[in-house]
Formats: sequence, structure tokens, C-alpha cells
Amino acid sequence: MKNNLVIVGTQWGDEGKGKITDFLAQRADVVVRYQGGNNAGHTINFDGKKFALQSIPSGIFTPHIVNVIANGVVFNPKAALAELEGLEERGVKDYQLYISNRAQVIMPYHMDLDGASESLKGDKKIGTTKKGIGPCYADKANRIGIRVGDLLDKEYFKERLQDALVVKNMELKMYGLPTYEFEPLYEEYLALGERFKKHICDTSVLLNKLIQEGKKVLYEGAQGVMLCLDHGTYPFVTSSSPTAASVPLNTGIAPKYIDNVLGIAKAYTTRVGEGPFPTELDGELANTIRERGHEYGTVTHRPRRVGWLDAVVLKNAVRVSGVDNFSLMLFDVLTGIKEIKICKAYELNGEIIDYIPAQLSDFKKCKPVYETVPGWDEDITNVKSFDELPENAKNYIRKIEEITGGQIAIFSVGPDRTQTIELKKIF
Ligand code: GDP
Ligand code: IMO
Ligand code: MG
Repeated sequence: MKNNLVIVGTQWGDEGKGKITDFLAQRADVVVRYQGGNNAGHTINFDGKKFALQSIPSGIFTPHIVNVIANGVVFNPKAALAELEGLEERGVKDYQLYISNRAQVIMPYHMDLDGASESLKGDKKIGTTKKGIGPCYADKANRIGIRVGDLLDKEYFKERLQDALVVKNMELKMYGLPTYEFEPLYEEYLALGERFKKHICDTSVLLNKLIQEGKKVLYEGAQGVMLCLDHGTYPFVTSSSPTAASVPLNTGIAPKYIDNVLGIAKAYTTRVGEGPFPTELDGELANTIRERGHEYGTVTHRPRRVGWLDAVVLKNAVRVSGVDNFSLMLFDVLTGIKEIKICKAYELNGEIIDYIPAQLSDFKKCKPVYETVPGWDEDITNVKSFDELPENAKNYIRKIEEITGGQIAIFSVGPDRTQTIELKKIF
């Protein structure tokens, strides 16, 4: 059995990564968040309880699991503290959490600038979560970011924050926003650093040690491949890469350790935020799917855009992220729909293509080429095996496998941990 499994969203996020991470975490030793920040919202349901995690890894509920927030994450200490306090209030007290000293800190000015940049773009906005993700990654690349480890070094943090504020206050002024005074910000973030001190370490050293010991590690992606900064629908993307390829860089382990990738895919497609979406539906059917799947943003509560399953998107994830197996999620939501469509290719300027064109202007023009399959009426929320599925539901799974060339190892028929059926043990 392979020990290092990456869990990757294959669409535009919210595929059910949290649910599957929690499910597989029952047999893991380590769960690692490797990119993104509190723009993520990972929902987990078990024992009649529901949790929505943002920056905390989905292994937090299992005391023996080592949870890691790796160097590729943008970490908002204030938000994470509130999240942890919320978990503790609900009885999640016995946990192990390590935060990379190399992770970037999301500062309040990052959130201000995220909002300001969105307003300036007007109807060309990205539709970000306004959590400061883009501005924080931009500062990382621009080498004026604050790292988590900096918060533990009074003198060095002072210098870094002073230098950053020169630039950040200039930007804030440009947008007509209030600027930040050094002292209160310095004191507040120094105190936050102190609060997290016991969790902060070199997580690359820690992870490599755990891998050497033969521990079972889950790498929990946030967002999805179509939101990847490099391989997504740029510029309507997030500011990091959720692909499996980003795991080694963003965690400080060697690429050779990544030998198993599970792609999480909804049985249909959703998207929050702006940007092209070829299989998007509107009208009654869209509303039915949205209501049945509770398709409202976990973080921003925005109604999610919904559409048919897009197999071109899934094939893209297989290609750029090396997906070995899929987990098909929210399968139950399709019950009762007479005819279900799967997009198997696009028509672009009279040509049939089965990849995502790089140019957004081309992607906007792509018309889905559908295959239509009959639906089913039977409630599937209690099925425990493939054999118990109605024939048309079985055929839907087979059809997806045929079109994508991938294998469905898991399918999910409800939000609860128990509503998960494994066709193949991959971890
Ligand atoms: P993530 O960001 O990929 O972890 O996904 P989210 O938690 O943002 O969104 C997935 C939503 O679908 C959550 O509300 C889950 O509780 C819910 N969910 C997950 N799997 C299933 C399923 O098989 N059926 C139904 N009905 N809901 C599910
Ligand atoms: P999880 O991990 C769905 C989207 C935003 C916006 C774009 C950029 O729960 O799947 P950002 O705030 O990252 O700069 O926004 O990315 N987005 C998500 N959509 N699920 C997420 O996370 C998302 N994180 C960011 O809606 O379109
Ligand atoms: Mg989500």
C-alpha cells in the first residue's frame, strides 16, 4: 500500500475534499494542508455533528493524527485562532497541530487590498473570497511577505513589518484606504505569534521524519485544479496551485514520495466567483440541484453556480495533476433527474477539442458536446455497495470512467462520513 496520498479538487473547488480527507484520515497518521488559506471551506459531518474548516487540516478531530499547515499555505493567525477556539468550544481539544515557520502570514492589509482591488475591477472582478489570499501570495513573490517564523523573532519581525508597511501604506493610500500604524499592528501580531509558538516548527523536517518512519500521510488540497494559478481559468483563479505537482514544493518533501493521487469530483459541477463555465445551467434545474446539494459557499455563503459534469475538466485534472483514481461526490443529488448530461468534449470554432484552451477568450467560446444518459428515481442515500445502486446510476459511474479513462474508487451518497462507499481500497 502506498503511504502518501494527495487529495485534489478536480473542478472549481467545493468538491467534497474535506469529507473525503476526514473519511480517509481514519486510517492516516498525518494530514497536511499544502496551499491556499482560509479561502477554503471544508465541510465534515460525523456523529450528527457538522464542522466547516477553513485553515485547519481535516485531521483535527482525530487525536493521534499529526496535522500540518505547510510552507505553501497563507496563514491568517487571527482567523485560525478563532477557528481553533470554535473547535475547542465544541469539544475538539485533543489535537496535534504544527504550522510551518515558512508559511506566509495574512495581514489585515492583505484583506483590505483584496477588497479594494476587487472594487476597482468593477464588473471584471474575480469574485474572490476577500480573505487577502492574492495580495499575501503577491507579497511572498515580491519578497516583502511576513513568515510565521518571523513572528517569533521580535527584532527581525520589527524590521520586516516596518519595511512592508512602507509599501503597503503607499498602496492603501493609492486606493484611498486608511493606513496602518506600526506599533499596534506589531504588538498584535507579536502576541499572535506567542500564542501559536508551541505549534510553529520546520514542518519540512517534521514531515520527512514521519515519511521515513513509514507513516501514512494525506495531503489535503484546497480549491480545485480549474482554480490553479497556472493550469486554471486564469485570471479567474486563486493565487496558488492545488495540483499534486505543488505538494513537494509547498511541503518541503521530495517529489518521489508522491505516488498516489485521488481526484475529488462532484457528480455535476459548481463554481463560486466569476469566470467562464461551459456546462453552466440556469432556470429550474439549476435551482433544484442548488437546493438539493445545498450549493451555497461555505466561506462566503454565495449561491454556487451549477452545471452538468464536465469530463474535459476531469481529464484536465488527470493530465496536470496525475489523478490515479476519482472519488465521485454528491451522487445522491442527481436522483430524480430524468436525463443527465455529461460534457465529453468542446466545440471551438467548428473544431472538436478535449482539452482546456489556454486563452480565456477561446474558453469562453467553447460549446459543450454532451452525451445524455438516463437518470434514476430511487433514493440512493443508504446504499452501501455498487451492487445496490439502480442500474442507471451504475451506468453513470461506468460512463464517467469510460469518458475520462479514470477509475472511480469511492462514491459518496450523502454528507455524512458513513455515506461513503469504497469500490477499491487506495489508502
Ligand atoms: P470542499 O471544499 O471540497 O471540502 O467541499 P465543501 O465542504 O465546500 O462543499 C461540499 C458540500 O457537499 C458540503 O456541504 C458537504 O457536506 C456536502 N457533501 C459532501 N459529500 C456529499 C454527498 O455525497 N452528498 C451530499 N448531499 N452532500 C455532500
Ligand atoms: P475549497 O477549498 C471554491 C474561488 C473564489 C474566486 C477565486 C479566487 O473550499 O474548495 P481567492 O479568495 O482564492 O483569491 O478567490 O477562487 N475560491 C474557491 N471556490 N472553493 C474554494 O475552496 C475556493 N477558494 C477560492 O470564489 O472565484
Ligand atoms: Mg469548500
